Amino acid sequence: MTSSSDLDQGVERLFRPELAALEAYSPILPLEVLSEQSAIPAEGIIKLDGNENPYGCSPQVGRALEAYPFYHVYPDPEQRELRKAVEAYCGLGADHIVMGSGSDELIDLILRLFLEPGDKVINCTPTFGMYPFSTEVCGGRVVDVPRDQSYGVDIDGVKAALDKRAKIVFLASPNNPTGNVTPQPHIRELVDAGVVVVVDEAYYEFSGVTVAPLVADYDNLIVLRSFSKWAGLAGLRAGYGIFPPQIARHLTKIKPPYNVNVAAQVAVKASLADIAYLQGTVRAMIAERERLFSRLSELGFLKPYPSQANFILCSVVDGEAQKLHRGLQQVGIFVRYFDTPQLRSCLRISVGRPEHTDALISALTKLREG
Ligand SMILES: Cc1ncc(COP(=O)(O)O)c(C=O)c1O
Repeated sequence: MTSSSDLDQGVERLFRPELAALEAYSPILPLEVLSEQSAIPAEGIIKLDGNENPYGCSPQVGRALEAYPFYHVYPDPEQRELRKAVEAYCGLGADHIVMGSGSDELIDLILRLFLEPGDKVINCTPTFGMYPFSTEVCGGRVVDVPRDQSYGVDIDGVKAALDKRAKIVFLASPNNPTGNVTPQPHIRELVDAGVVVVVDEAYYEFSGVTVAPLVADYDNLIVLRSFSKWAGLAGLRAGYGIFPPQIARHLTKIKPPYNVNVAAQVAVKASLADIAYLQGTVRAMIAERERLFSRLSELGFLKPYPSQANFILCSVVDGEAQKLHRGLQQVGIFVRYFDTPQLRSCLRISVGRPEHTDALISALTKLREG
């Protein structure tokens, strides 16, 4: 812990004061750390806390990484081959596309492009924690506009929050952690209000719902996508944004030149060349999502919310979410618990393989009985 007197004396006195007080983002932990902390071998852990792909990446990725001969050469700062490959996938021209080291990096770059100190960013809570975190790192002010009871965006509330200092609205669709999509007319309403609207479609492949084609019609609409979830590349860090070309040009100017490493580039190209395989695993996860939803509903003490992503938010209607979270951890099953007022009575459970669902349901049943 740093006390205010430390801040006056050491190098901390040179930190940006607003960052000295910033709370760290609370990330999920990797398998080896979970294994060490729980004393359960990594192979025995059921990891349903990160919305990762339980089937891994395409087998072509490993082959392509092994065969690639130029790891000693820096990647293309303009990401030419990669943007061409993404163009064919997303249907908008390469001049609309910028790649990031995960879509997390693009969230940060967008904020850096638009925010002056004290500018406002509208955050439709509960939602993905990187929006407020990166906003604060970039010197912006977060304005929370809570979602309604079924987690729909409060469009009138957002519009009421738009003043001269409001620059950006983030809309995750499907939303993490609630799993619902924001209907296109609602998104258009906010775009028409003139603010920059970032529609984060990290889970698009599980919903099939997109506003990407609209980017061609507006200069203030951005769509973000990720290779972490559907393509199983979370560990390699690759995401992309579909931008109006003038925004894409400016982002390319301010991004670190070699932001997407060569291994990630090779992996993305191999994935896009093996889409049929990946779509098969996405279909398996969607089918499992529906089975998981039914099994969770049958337990009687959880209320799962319908989801168009690869996770399900559950309200614990009888019992304590944090206790269940801890109880599951003790048997090597990791789900996500958020210690925030809106989510304290909830658990977010990523869709795993069928055997993961079975183990989870059996553990929840035992916890309930015991
Ligand atoms: C809504 C949303 N956006 C972006 C991300 C970050 O994805 P990436 O791994 O591409 O940085 C996540 C990851 O959980 C997410 O849930």
